Amino acid sequence: MAHEGQTWEPARYAREARFVSDLGNPVVELLAPRAGERILDLGCGDGALTRVIADAGCGVLGVDASPEMVAAAREQGLEARVVDGEDLPFDGDFDAVFSNAALHWMTRPDRVLSGVRHSLRPGGRFVGELGGHGNVAAIVDALAAALDERGIDAAALNPWFFPDAEQYRLLLERHGFEVSAIELFSRPTPLPGDVIGWLETFADAFVAALPAQDRREFLVDVAERCRPVLCDDSGQWVADYVRLRFAAHRKE
Ligand code: BEZ
Repeated sequence: MAHEGQTWEPARYAREARFVSDLGNPVVELLAPRAGERILDLGCGDGALTRVIADAGCGVLGVDASPEMVAAAREQGLEARVVDGEDLPFDGDFDAVFSNAALHWMTRPDRVLSGVRHSLRPGGRFVGELGGHGNVAAIVDALAAALDERGIDAAALNPWFFPDAEQYRLLLERHGFEVSAIELFSRPTPLPGDVIGWLETFADAFVAALPAQDRREFLVDVAERCRPVLCDDSGQWVADYVRLRFAAHRKE
C-alpha cells in the first residue's frame, strides 16, 4: 500500500477498511503457502494477511511504502520493512510473492513486475489480487464530476491502475511469467460506514486538490452523487469493487 499524496492512518484503516484483508483470504488460499517457504507480502498494509501466511509456517517479509503501516505490522511481531514496490531490492530471495489490494496503487507496473521477477527464485509463484478494470467506477465518476464542476481535472490526479485481464496477462508474460489463472470479476463490497469514510481513507489524491476549507462540502457532494448507485434503501453502502485475481510463476 503506498502512493504519494495518499496518507495511511492505521486506526482509520482498521475502522473503515478491515474488509480489505477479511476478503483477501481466498487470495491466500490461491497462494497455498507451505510451511518453510519464504514469502514476500508486497503491500502488506498493517499485516493482517502477512499474519495469516506466517501462521501457515512460512517465513514472511511484509513490505509497504507506508512507514505507518509497516509500524503497525511490526507491532504485531511481524517482519516488515518500508520498501517502494516499484523499486524492489531483492534477488531470488523468495519462493513466492503475494499481494492483496496493493498493486493498483503502483502505477508503473513494468517496474513492479521486473522487481517481482527478480525477487523470486526460478519457478517461484506470484499470486495476487488488485482492483481491475471498472473498479469503483461509480466513485471515480462522482469524483470526476464533482472536481470538474470545480474546474479540476480528476484524470490528472487519479492514483490508481485498474487493468483488465488481457492487459495484465500480457504484462506478466512480458516479464517472464507463465500465467496459470487470471480472472476479472465484480465483487460488490458492503462498507462498514458511508462512502465518505471510504473517501477519507482512500481518496486523498483527489481531495487534496481542494483547499482544506472546501473539502467537507466536496465529500458530501461526491457522496450524494454516489448515493443513487451505491446506497440501498436500508442505508447500507455497497462499493462497486471489481477484482483482478491471478496466479503465475517465474518461468526460469
Ligand atoms: C481497491 O481495493 O480496489 C481499492 C481500494 C482503495 C482505492 C481504490 C481501490
